[in-house]
Amino acid sequence: MVELSRIVRFCLNTDTGERPGRYNTFAAWPPMRGLGCFYQIRIRCQGEPDPITGYFMNIKEIDQATWEHALSYLARLLADELSSAEIPVGRVMQTMLERIQPALSHSVVEMRLDLTPYYSVIIRSLDMSSLLMSQQFEFAAAHRLHVPEFSDQKNREVFGKCNNPSGHGHNYRLEVVVRAPVDGAGHILPAEQLDQLVYESVLDKLDHKNLNVDVPQFAEVNSSVENIARVIYGMLNNPVREIGLELDQVSVWETSKTVCTYRE
Ligand code: NI
Repeated sequence: MVELSRIVRFCLNTDTGERPGRYNTFAAWPPMRGLGCFYQIRIRCQGEPDPITGYFMNIKEIDQATWEHALSYLARLLADELSSAEIPVGRVMQTMLERIQPALSHSVVEMRLDLTPYYSVIIRSLDMSSLLMSQQFEFAAAHRLHVPEFSDQKNREVFGKCNNPSGHGHNYRLEVVVRAPVDGAGHILPAEQLDQLVYESVLDKLDHKNLNVDVPQFAEVNSSVENIARVIYGMLNNPVREIGLELDQVSVWETSKTVCTYRE
């Protein structure tokens, strides 16, 4: 069994009726015109590769299926009189996945729609009644890696510059993924409600703080990126449940090269 992922990028513009040339499917096809909308869909399929071609599926088929069954459907929706805020995102994701599946031999296990570079909605074929919402945030904080039980020399050996007695700082990036049920009308919780919850439960408590000094959760626990991801998961778990969502995972980037993900 192999898993094949493919990204399809496209823009939805005011329809002029003409078909643009396919010169740059890397950036987006159809390409941007004026102030159109850019989207990205990531399709994840599972299956067995053909013994002769080595292909499980020709990626052209994935592109074609996405253009024919998802993009054209989205284009019609947006051209409609509905404002995009009223379009039920949950229903749209369910419909797009249902439309794409037959064209790809029902091999799609996950479809991810990147609505912005930071906010995505994800549907999995095993659970069509809910979506995963992924949103990113940032916060800046100071910290020091230090274990009181170690000698000063051992702390310097293990943590290096990160043991500097006066501390140091990071611009952390945070990604929160929650599972949101699709309601009877096909809607999911608006992203701004998740934003508010993460702001009140996490960012307001960590941003521009010294983690070791200002945040009680790190009084006895070393403020490694592993522990920061775990602590943030703990800060979010109950508040997320209280608004009817389920926390799936939390990822924290300490730098652009180092990320830690915590899930239960
Ligand atoms: Ni650090």
